[in-house]
Amino acid sequence: MEKFLTWIDDRFPLTALWKSQVSEYYAPKNFNFWYYFGSLALLVLVMQIVTGIFLTMSYKADATKAFESIEYIMRDIAGGWFIRYAHSTGASAFFIVVYLHMFRALLYGSYRRPRELLWIVGCFIYLMLMAEAFFGYLLPWGQMSYWGAQVIVNLFSTVPIIGDDLGTWIRGDYTISDVTLNRFFAFHVAAVPLVLLILVVVHLMALHEVGSNNPDGVEIKDRKDPKTGHPIDGIPFHPYYTVKDIVGVVFFLIVFSIVVFFWPDVGGYFIESNNFIPANPLQTPEHIAPVWYFTPYYAMLRAVPSFLNSQFWGVLVMVAAVLILFFLPWLDRSKVKSIRYRGGLYKGWLAAFVVSFLILGYLGVVPVTVWGQFRDTVPLLGGADKATVLARVLTVVYLLFFILMPWYTARDKTKPVPEQVT
Ligand code: HEM
Repeated sequence: MEKFLTWIDDRFPLTALWKSQVSEYYAPKNFNFWYYFGSLALLVLVMQIVTGIFLTMSYKADATKAFESIEYIMRDIAGGWFIRYAHSTGASAFFIVVYLHMFRALLYGSYRRPRELLWIVGCFIYLMLMAEAFFGYLLPWGQMSYWGAQVIVNLFSTVPIIGDDLGTWIRGDYTISDVTLNRFFAFHVAAVPLVLLILVVVHLMALHEVGSNNPDGVEIKDRKDPKTGHPIDGIPFHPYYTVKDIVGVVFFLIVFSIVVFFWPDVGGYFIESNNFIPANPLQTPEHIAPVWYFTPYYAMLRAVPSFLNSQFWGVLVMVAAVLILFFLPWLDRSKVKSIRYRGGLYKGWLAAFVVSFLILGYLGVVPVTVWGQFRDTVPLLGGADKATVLARVLTVVYLLFFILMPWYTARDKTKPVPEQVT
């Protein structure tokens, strides 16, 4: 074995890579619960690729056969139901894991210098993940696939002047059709996963260049042992964090299996009931909503009133709500990184932001008919219903969290940061 390894090492830096990236990569010794989600995101990425490859073996990207081919996978192929449900559950799991992973960055200021680029690459990953989920959702060719894609592509049609042409260009047709299905399939199985994989590699390279942040927000590279040259507060990634991450993986797989085996549609949240009905271009479903991970933005879209006969303003707000994430490293002016040493202002705004995001997510799922039940109960606001008013307020809170950040983080009363991790 040793001879074989030497043979490889003479031709490829295998041992050197293992040492520099894993066994002698020093990570802060105080990682906590929130540091599970990076490795879990990697796990889900691999699971999605593997289950996706097996689905592609039997799926037919053809508007007359797509729905049937999914039924065939579910009913006739040995273990096909498992592969399909693992993939559909994996999509939601991906967003849960990534949202928690991003929230950790907000808790500990992980986007701050010197990790700005790491954060920005993360934001691109998030955009690509949304694109991947959107393209994938059309493939089963169910009612919700069809009408969801219709709604989203129509958002592009609200762009002034070029909107209509843009919509036609994206669809490749005047309506969502077989042409659209084929190109979405190409994007879902080849183009976007490729970009996603490259971005994840860049993300990890950027991480290993600057080193991980930690729950104290202390730079461990600033205090090195003069004898060994390693950070005093660091421990080798392997075996310490490989073992820790396995604990996270086991726990995650238990919960994941419970969902896949006992509750794969999660009451319509992971797979919507309308998507068990084949797409029918002549019948609009009563209630169209995207899957839960998009609903906070969808609620913003519905909350913004159309102005000058255009829905474009809602689209602008929705896009701004995502793109503003990129600027976070420069909006935060606090002297400290971690929430442990921040004052009440940041804590209060972060709490308001999280609550807004969650309630917007809920408002985005409930049908407009539910919103309408409260119609005309707020006469002061032009007769807008309560849910709309609430969604408007929460949209403003969401945006203010970012827009006011330079101001409240600079004014916040911070606590002294210890020299070493606690
Ligand atoms: C496919 C999706 C992703 C994968 C596989 C991934 C993977 C990882 C891994 C393995 C780590 C190191 C372990 C950890 O800190 O948990 C990490 C760190 C980090 N990631 Fe990601 N990530 C993904 C998406 C994102 C997104 C969407 C963002 C933000 C928009 C992001 C921002 C960060 C930041 C700021 C760190 C450093 C955290 C710290 O050191 O405190 N990542 N990522």
